[in-house]
Amino acid sequence: MKLPEIKLVENWLKEGYNRNPGPWVNHSKLVANAAQIIASRIEDLNEKKAYIMGLIHDMGRFAGIAHERHTIDGYNFLKERGYEKLARICITHCFPNKNINANIGFWDCSDGELEFVKKFIDNCEYNDYDRLIQLCDCFTMENKYVLIEKRLIDVVLRYNLKNQVPLSIPLLQKWQRYLEIKEYFSNMIGESIYNLLPNVIENTFGTINSD
Ligand SMILES: [Fe+2]
Repeated sequence: MKLPEIKLVENWLKEGYNRNPGPWVNHSKLVANAAQIIASRIEDLNEKKAYIMGLIHDMGRFAGIAHERHTIDGYNFLKERGYEKLARICITHCFPNKNINANIGFWDCSDGELEFVKKFIDNCEYNDYDRLIQLCDCFTMENKYVLIEKRLIDVVLRYNLKNQVPLSIPLLQKWQRYLEIKEYFSNMIGESIYNLLPNVIENTFGTINSD
């Protein structure tokens, strides 16, 4: 797989931040760090590749504040620059259980684009990089790593209460999948993935200062 240099990706993020300032860039860097840390413990995974995938998974946010269309924007961004294979991570990271109805954000894209995403994930055979970024995205908040359950509740409370969206079975199945993926990687490395991440206990159960 053709990979961009890290410097180039960092420049994309810098430009992206200038166009759409927000916590997504810092979040992306933390996801990249976590992906690299976990990949370093798994023989079949390449640390640098995992790191780059973490950095670019939310690249679609460069286009501005958006909901689920950031998946397509990120995919197109990388494809236009010649990184079509890498571009998949911009889509797959959002669909651990391959169900477009499991996401709580709006589908702010055309019917054709939605159909494209649906077909894309239906036809995509997920590999360990897809699963790794799904996992790291899930336990990474804007500026810290936390217990997955905390992150899931935080997103649902912020989003569902504001938009009056009820919890759905596909969403709960998505949560279940995150927990399965966490077990999958923990089993692979022989200990809890949380042991590898800095300050998860403090961030999850800590004082007001850590929030
Ligand atoms: Fe993310």
